[in-house]
Amino acid sequence: MPEGRREAGLRVRPFDPAREADRAAILDICLRTGDAGGDASALYADPRELTELYATPYLDRMPEWCFVAESVGSGSAPAAGDGSGPVVGYILGAPDTAAFAAATGLRLPEFAGHPAHLHVNLLPEAQGRGGGRMLVEALLARLTAAGIPGVHLVVDPRNTGALAFYPRLGFTELARTPTGVPFARTVPQPEPSSWSPRECRLQAALTDPG
Ligand SMILES: CC(C)(COP(=O)(O)OP(=O)(O)OC[C@H]1O[C@@H](n2cnc3c(N)ncnc32)[C@H](O)[C@@H]1OP(=O)(O)O)[C@@H](O)C(=O)NCCC(=O)NCCS
Repeated sequence: MPEGRREAGLRVRPFDPAREADRAAILDICLRTGDAGGDASALYADPRELTELYATPYLDRMPEWCFVAESVGSGSAPAAGDGSGPVVGYILGAPDTAAFAAATGLRLPEFAGHPAHLHVNLLPEAQGRGGGRMLVEALLARLTAAGIPGVHLVVDPRNTGALAFYPRLGFTELARTPTGVPFARTVPQPEPSSWSPRECRLQAALTDPG
């Protein structure tokens, strides 16, 4: 398992399907951020109505496209004996939205030239600390490694935080409708020789299978 990136008391690492705590935390965070970025706990008698749309299919079918943010450092209770901290955020997605929709039966929008899509969520106490940027960069690095040219997502128009966040990460707003605001960005496909030292380190950390 690569060590992952660490910043501002948060560390990003690949999701580990063998760790039940990873999965449980992701489902919990999905629910606690599922109402336009706010807590959706009161909206669902059965949380699976939400998590089976936005989390479970990805964890089951696309685990290698999921990363988690852990809280590390002072004040964080260790969640395991290996120094990992509690999972406070995640990103997940699919590199080929059309194929994923066909496999899962989910109805998902598609945007030409941007075949991948993502979902990123952090608990309130982990927001505003650079974790969202780290998670998106982790997924972008993996998309780059896989040669995927572009990625999109759709934001609830009430979610003002997310509407402000994605443009900071290089995403362009494609439209504004009452039901959703789609964003997309191209995925960098540089020659390895043109990568910055930071990009090289990130790429190595995230693609090293060891
Ligand atoms: C939206 C979310 C993923 C952003 O992650 P985050 O860790 O809070 O954001 P970061 O600290 O990485 O911020 C990255 C950039 O976005 C900006 N940004 C993030 N949230 C912002 C906000 N609410 N208002 C204005 N700017 C914001 C930051 O200022 C920062 O800009 P900079 O790096 O250019 O200085 C996170 O707040 C979250 O999970 N919110 C609840 C769930 C949600 O809305 N998910 C998205 C559903 S589409």
